[in-house]
Amino acid sequence: MKVISSINDLRDQLRGQNRTSFVPTMGNLHEGHLSLMRLARQHGDPVVASIFVNRLQFGPNEDFDKYPRTFEADIEKLQKENVYILFAPTEREMYPQSQEYRVHPSHDLGDILEGEFRTGFFTGVCTVVMKLMSCVQPRVAVFGKKDYQQLMIVRAMCEQFALPTEVIAAETVRDIDGLALSSRNRYLQPAERAEAPMLAAALARVRERVLSGNRNFEMLQHEAMVSLSTAGWKPDYVAIRKRSNLLAPAAHELDAPLVVLAAAKLGATRLIDNLEI
Ligand code: PAF
Repeated sequence: MKVISSINDLRDQLRGQNRTSFVPTMGNLHEGHLSLMRLARQHGDPVVASIFVNRLQFGPNEDFDKYPRTFEADIEKLQKENVYILFAPTEREMYPQSQEYRVHPSHDLGDILEGEFRTGFFTGVCTVVMKLMSCVQPRVAVFGKKDYQQLMIVRAMCEQFALPTEVIAAETVRDIDGLALSSRNRYLQPAERAEAPMLAAALARVRERVLSGNRNFEMLQHEAMVSLSTAGWKPDYVAIRKRSNLLAPAAHELDAPLVVLAAAKLGATRLIDNLEI
């Protein structure tokens, strides 16, 4: 595997390639990321991964400085997955001057759910993904369903800008007890880690009840929030939404393809998860 930190070197290495498959990450790789690499390999060649902890997508009170950085271990994992190039730019390479031009997602998709609780987050994500895609020029890029709204926003961005990149969705990888894999799980204290699968369990209960015919979505959302709060979580939202646009289904749309999404804080750690219904 070639580890490249300069945009010019990356372009030199990829000249003439038109089937590149790309997986952007912020590092601290776990089995979820590795499943993205495997899916990328099925859809193109060469596989290019990136590791870049993108300051633009962190709010002033978020965890940019303490975000786990495990570069050497990440390199070993990517080598085992036969990744051809790891693009790992420095901050100075990605943002040599203050990044004044930014990509703002549509308000409809960008200002709800995560966008409501993390102001500027999706602008930071879109801006870096656009820039990374401009460097890699992939034919396909793989994003995980764990970050469902991010996946939809990036896909819509590629379509609206007519980028030649197809966005492929990868299923969420879970621990044996149901907890969705995430770099932020590292922050959990042992007692919190034992409690953490409750988020996925709450989503599974909502899904079960919708599948068994319950259409009182307000009540199901409320009950899930209350059960999390009672167990000591601080939920931001539990929301049953249409998969097509993440808006709440109108009365005549209750049987549309749905997804239930949630975000909640457990101690100091904010976790998100979702389940398609
Ligand atoms: O999902 C992530 O890890 C990040 O948001 C991404 C897509 C790599 C952009 O920084």
